[in-house]
Amino acid sequence: MPSQNADISYTVPGVSTQDSRRISDLLQMRLHSLNDLHLTLKHVHWNVVGPHFIAVHEMIDPQVDKVRAMTDDLAERISTLGGQPNGTPGALVDRRTWNDYSIGRAEAIEHLGALDLVYTAVIKDHREAMQATETSDPVTQDMLIEQLRGLELFQWFVRAHLESSGGELSTRGATTETGAAGQAAEQARSQP
Ligand SMILES: [Fe+2]
Repeated sequence: MPSQNADISYTVPGVSTQDSRRISDLLQMRLHSLNDLHLTLKHVHWNVVGPHFIAVHEMIDPQVDKVRAMTDDLAERISTLGGQPNGTPGALVDRRTWNDYSIGRAEAIEHLGALDLVYTAVIKDHREAMQATETSDPVTQDMLIEQLRGLELFQWFVRAHLESSGGELSTRGATTETGAAGQAAEQARSQP
């Protein structure tokens, strides 16, 4: 798909249109990623079941709100740089390099195991974007750093449920959401 930011004619003072185009393209993928994340988090909020339902159901909503606020900042930064943010579901599905969240109705611990992997993927790409803006646009980088602080905190909220008293994560080594969910459920079952 061609960049929607190819025709940038103005940008913020002190940043070249070439850099603004590149940064807007990079922010567009972060926008798709976080739009996907807040929808996925709501899906978990609706599908979590079992004895730990209310804790996880209620933990998720503030994350949805904060991640949605991050998407607004990302989109408005693209506009500020002279680009065109795209928030449509079709474009998201077209451009994304990951699959839909794969778990439906399931126990809280299973969703938390899977969410650990979701957060890892999102945070890894967000860090790459943060590093790629270090010299070209520290203002954009500052926004991404702030967002990373929030995303990493939310992953810790998730991980605290998966951590043993010895500090090990039950999802260690898992490469798929269902695998992570299974490992998390297994450890929860084996705890006295
Ligand atoms: Fe709700």
